[in-house]
Amino acid sequence: MENQKDNFNALFQITRTINSILEPDALLEKVLEIAMTHLSAERGFVMLADNMSESGYTVVALKNFNSKKASDEFAASSSVVTTVLQTGEPVLTFDAMSDERFESSVSIMAQKILSIICIPLRAGERIAGAVYLDSSKSRKAFTEDALKFLTVFGGLAAIAIENAQRYSILETQNTRLKNEADVSHLFSNIIGKSEKWRKVLEISQRVLDVDAAVLLTGESGTGKELIARAIHENGTRKGQSFVAVNSSALPENLMESELFGYVKGSFTGAASDKKGLVEVANGGTLFLDEIGELPLSLQAKILRLLQEKEYRRVGDTVNRKANIRIIAATNKELKEEVKANRFREDLFFRLNVVGIHLPPLRERKDDIPLLANYFVKKAAENYKRPIDSIHPDAMQIMLANQWKGNVREFQNVIERAVVLCRGTQLMKDDFLFDTSDQSVLQKNGMTLADVERQLIETTLNEMNGNRTRTAEKLGVSLRWLQYRIKEWGTEG
Ligand SMILES: Nc1ncnc2c1ncn2[C@@H]1O[C@H](COP(=O)(O)OP(=O)(O)OP(=O)(O)O)[C@@H](O)[C@H]1O
Ligand SMILES: [Mg+2]
Repeated sequence: MENQKDNFNALFQITRTINSILEPDALLEKVLEIAMTHLSAERGFVMLADNMSESGYTVVALKNFNSKKASDEFAASSSVVTTVLQTGEPVLTFDAMSDERFESSVSIMAQKILSIICIPLRAGERIAGAVYLDSSKSRKAFTEDALKFLTVFGGLAAIAIENAQRYSILETQNTRLKNEADVSHLFSNIIGKSEKWRKVLEISQRVLDVDAAVLLTGESGTGKELIARAIHENGTRKGQSFVAVNSSALPENLMESELFGYVKGSFTGAASDKKGLVEVANGGTLFLDEIGELPLSLQAKILRLLQEKEYRRVGDTVNRKANIRIIAATNKELKEEVKANRFREDLFFRLNVVGIHLPPLRERKDDIPLLANYFVKKAAENYKRPIDSIHPDAMQIMLANQWKGNVREFQNVIERAVVLCRGTQLMKDDFLFDTSDQSVLQKNGMTLADVERQLIETTLNEMNGNRTRTAEKLGVSLRWLQYRIKEWGTEG
């Protein structure tokens, strides 16, 4: 009777303890510890059902075994455990070596195990696992009473374990959902749920509150500027200025005065002091677009800006302090540029403290339907077209296309299709994929000059007005391109 009261008290304490542990691994350790202490067992382990393992079970906690592997000492228990898991009944044996149930177990002999107790962890009808204890010394503790106690304990432990596992799953789900919710709330104009895109958003979100430099890499049109703005607008510098600088837009010396400003008289035409973009961006973010194009002399100055937060106006003798966050972007392989000595390695490392690679659209095709719906809706509103859906055939060709110009090209093509669409559903025939295709142009009776101009304009558009890249894509020199554009300008 006295003993029963002890057991009852022990169970009460144990229940309180195990119900307060929510972390599955810690709980399993505790369950094992309690069982071993209560029975003065020398060794023990807990195993749980596991669909992934061959046997259907894995050892999740163990004490005083040398390894989790199916070594000899461990195999000792396997026949006992198998019996318990199969029958759902506990096993108690005082003299394991002569117990006929385990006759065949070499390991029981080898380990000279005298007493074994093994109970199922029952959760309702299901057998969730087992607790195994053994001893080669004491036989006293392994009594029928202890078995009763452990059976009740096993039931309670199984419930606690199930709860902890459920809790842990919920917790993971909850963190994930919170994350998703946050990301979609913060970046509401940024579309994409694919695995690769989600990673982009997750990293972006993590750098909101730190001032570390960020380097955005990715092909043209993948959304580098979009992400840069999102980081600025959702970070601690929101409300301050976001200044974008295209590093390839100007010749070297002009670029320097554009970036850092100049003092009166420092060069012909410098009639008064002028602030640079670094100063305009003060308190906010400086977005250095196409950083890979930045001349080496300016790279040194940007490095100084990053390291010392200092710069000098052109022609000035005093250093000025800058309080800016720098986000850089490039569609070049900067590592290659470093190897070719066109980009400073130290600047590369400094910028790449946080590197975010934006995947090309063809690597995140599962985002295409989402993006398509988003851009169709936007364009339909803009151009006042009553389009409310996309025909599956149209979606099919969007999915099949390679989208070398990535999201920018995708958006342009959709816009054009929306404008051309005459019904309420966007059809396959509304898509004109390749307007620069010469055969199309020739059919319309165009002259060579027309074709040239159209090709240049389409490419310029595709490159977001960037002349350097347009020239690159067309295989002509920048000078030639600028000459052509100027020509059209004078034509009116
Ligand atoms: N995930 C997205 N969701 C919505 N719009 C996007 C997304 N990604 C890109 N866009 C849109 O695509 C266009 C191109 O994006 P962005 O200008 O940011 O590209 P980029 O990587 O800076 O290109 P480039 O290297 O040519 O400068 C923009 O109009 C942008 O709003
Ligand atoms: Mg850009």
